[in-house]
Amino acid sequence: MSSATLSLKGRRVVVIGGASGIGFAVAALARELGAEVLIASSREDNVAQGLARLRESPGGAVSGEVVDLRREASVAGFFESLGVLDHLAITAGDWAGGMAASTRDLDLDAARARFEVRFWGVLAAVKHAVPHLAPEGSITLTSGMLTHRPQKGAVLAVGGAVESLAKALAMDLAPIRVNAVCPGYTLAGPVLSMAAERVAAATSRLPVPRAATATEAAQAYIYAMLNSYVTGQVLPVDGGGLLV
Ligand SMILES: NC(=O)c1ccc[n+]([C@@H]2O[C@H](COP(=O)([O-])OP(=O)(O)OC[C@H]3O[C@@H](n4cnc5c(N)ncnc54)[C@H](OP(=O)(O)O)[C@@H]3O)[C@@H](O)[C@H]2O)c1
Repeated sequence: MSSATLSLKGRRVVVIGGASGIGFAVAALARELGAEVLIASSREDNVAQGLARLRESPGGAVSGEVVDLRREASVAGFFESLGVLDHLAITAGDWAGGMAASTRDLDLDAARARFEVRFWGVLAAVKHAVPHLAPEGSITLTSGMLTHRPQKGAVLAVGGAVESLAKALAMDLAPIRVNAVCPGYTLAGPVLSMAAERVAAATSRLPVPRAATATEAAQAYIYAMLNSYVTGQVLPVDGGGLLV
């Protein structure tokens, strides 16, 4: 592969969830590769902070918008005002209803809320993005390792629904490509506020015995954007977690 193909120059990349964490790292890498980048999330102050951090490094044009994936009207307005885009990455997640969900004492309202942003919000975003996506463009969604490594007391693996959705969308929206990245423990979002010992305990038995950096996770989204023959795939960035 020539280095010329590892470029997003002239491409417009939109990252929903791009104000922080893995999404921010996707935005920073895409910008490094020459893309014009737009980050979006639901809190204005968060978007402003993300933009300021992105602008600390030299690179292509960058902008930010507020969009709330819980509200279809917000999503529709966001994409209507956006114009054409080449690649959409969605890393938004809100951990509604908490992380733990044990079957016996499941609060069904909280369980439904868990799907609001990460599944229904994602589907709304895809629906309204499609009319604006370049035919050779791509969409990359976000799942999670609980889907493949279930744990007691955590029955709501939203990522499984997201992975199935990515595959169905890859067929339905072709030639637009659709993939999902499946991050393992990554130093972003709620993992940043976990005690170091807890993160170490969760990752010490992995072939790569540590959590991923947000940039390591982000590289998989960039791969999904750049490789024009990859669609309907789930890309784990898990330190070998699927092997143990
Ligand atoms: N970190 C990990 O170890 C890990 C592992 C597996 C999977 N994941 C998944 O990876 C994704 C990114 O996580 P992260 O660790 O990077 O967390 P993060 O830094 O908290 O990023 C999540 C982003 O989603 C945005 N968001 C939340 N609700 C939204 C809404 N209603 N509409 C639009 N944007 C919204 C947040 O910004 P606002 O608050 O401004 O809206 C935030 O920027 C999540 O889906 C998470 O479940 C993470």
